[in-house]
Amino acid sequence: MITMSHRLLRTCNKCWLSTLLWSLAGWLVFLQIYHTLFPSSTHLPEPQDVWQKESLNLFPDVYPDMMVDRPEMVSSQGKVDHPMKKVPTKLDANVSGVIATLRNKTRERAEEEAKEKAALKKLALLFPGSELSIDGSKNNISEKGFYYPGRVWRDVDGKPIQAHGGGVLYVAETRTFYWYGENKGGPTYHLSKRGTARVDVLGISCYSSKDLWTWKFEGLALKPEKKDKSSDLYLTNVVERPKVIYNERTKHYVMWMHIDNANYSKAAVGVAISTQPEGPFDYLGSKRPHSCDSRDMTIFKDDNGDAYIIYSSQTNSELHIGTLTEDYMDVVERGMKRILIKQHREAPAVFKHQNIYYMVTSGCTGWNPNSAEVHAAESMMGSWETLGDPCVGGDEEFRAFTFFSQGSFVLPLPGLPNIFIFLADRWRPANLRDSRYIWLPLTMDGPVDQPLDKSFKFPPWQRVSIHWQNRWKLPPGWDIPQRWRLL
Ligand code: DGJ
Repeated sequence: MITMSHRLLRTCNKCWLSTLLWSLAGWLVFLQIYHTLFPSSTHLPEPQDVWQKESLNLFPDVYPDMMVDRPEMVSSQGKVDHPMKKVPTKLDANVSGVIATLRNKTRERAEEEAKEKAALKKLALLFPGSELSIDGSKNNISEKGFYYPGRVWRDVDGKPIQAHGGGVLYVAETRTFYWYGENKGGPTYHLSKRGTARVDVLGISCYSSKDLWTWKFEGLALKPEKKDKSSDLYLTNVVERPKVIYNERTKHYVMWMHIDNANYSKAAVGVAISTQPEGPFDYLGSKRPHSCDSRDMTIFKDDNGDAYIIYSSQTNSELHIGTLTEDYMDVVERGMKRILIKQHREAPAVFKHQNIYYMVTSGCTGWNPNSAEVHAAESMMGSWETLGDPCVGGDEEFRAFTFFSQGSFVLPLPGLPNIFIFLADRWRPANLRDSRYIWLPLTMDGPVDQPLDKSFKFPPWQRVSIHWQNRWKLPPGWDIPQRWRLL
């Protein structure tokens, strides 16, 4: 009996010991897996708002540095380069495969987090929070007149300005500027997962200003069509890049714009007229100029009253220049000039300086920014030469992407013959209504080349520079018309 109970006790002891050992081993494995799955050093910043979650998709093509693996981020946390050292056990054989998979997952997660962090940082830099706005409704003397490119810009009622892809018309008689642009104040839709982002047609806004800084909303100069599905202005279409010029003969303000359908296959231009700068404009219709596809476009009125239309054509591979009829309401079908062939440029913005015509263009990368180029010609229908990238200042990446924007207009100033304002859009495809305005000084910097001798025929154009500024103001006297200065 005693021997039996001794045996039982010994067996029980063994049993207890092995249970203890196994549960210890079990705990060790559990702890290791837990640590691998939930490392304490991994933190992800909370996204600031819903759409910021899309930040990695904001400009996927232009942030290659954010898209590549960043192994240094992982190794600095000692997770990849310094795996835990321990005495191999029998259990390792069973769990090592699981642990390796989990480690890889954690590494991928850490990399994702690092990318997301960097993207959020950049996003906050490019699209500062709305509390940092340029605010035309506030009478803050020390801030009045200062442009902060990229900040939300508020009108005199404190509402964010909705005038994208726009242009400015100066009415000398009343010394008033009118800013026309796309009202993108609605939700952004994506046709497909990788399709172009778009907002419904919500009309063309008009703002007025005396100082180019304080803007009053004058209403929709061109209203959208909400019922008639056959109208170009129907909600589901595309109306972009409106520009307005004044016709002295007809006494009409004439608006030209890019008209398209949601998949950009209509590729036409539209025209509307009004007897007042603020509208309402009557829509006259659309057409394909010179029977060619036409997407990004602008118009330009010369000093002698001749007006031109400039548009991207042949699926954006070249630009076309044509003259407008005397009433500016149509395109003259003959005599169209093809320029910058196979150069794939869009977003043309034309200006004139000392009898030379200049044009700033962008590359064609959808809503993503790319490098600007400036071109020059001795006549609108002449041959155009590419002078190069006009962006100056900021860092290399900023310059290479036109300060993360795309041009839309170059505005002459009444009192400063050698300074213009470059108007551009910093598009936000994840939420187009929050796209920002980049207004920067554009200067004419003197001859590109100096002839050694008068007999040499050197190009007459000047260097053009668009200067990056975080904060800037127009110099005094910019608004006093030059002819008044001479009196
Ligand atoms: C670039 C153009 O410049 C914009 O006006 C707009 O049409 C986008 N493409 C659409 O992707």
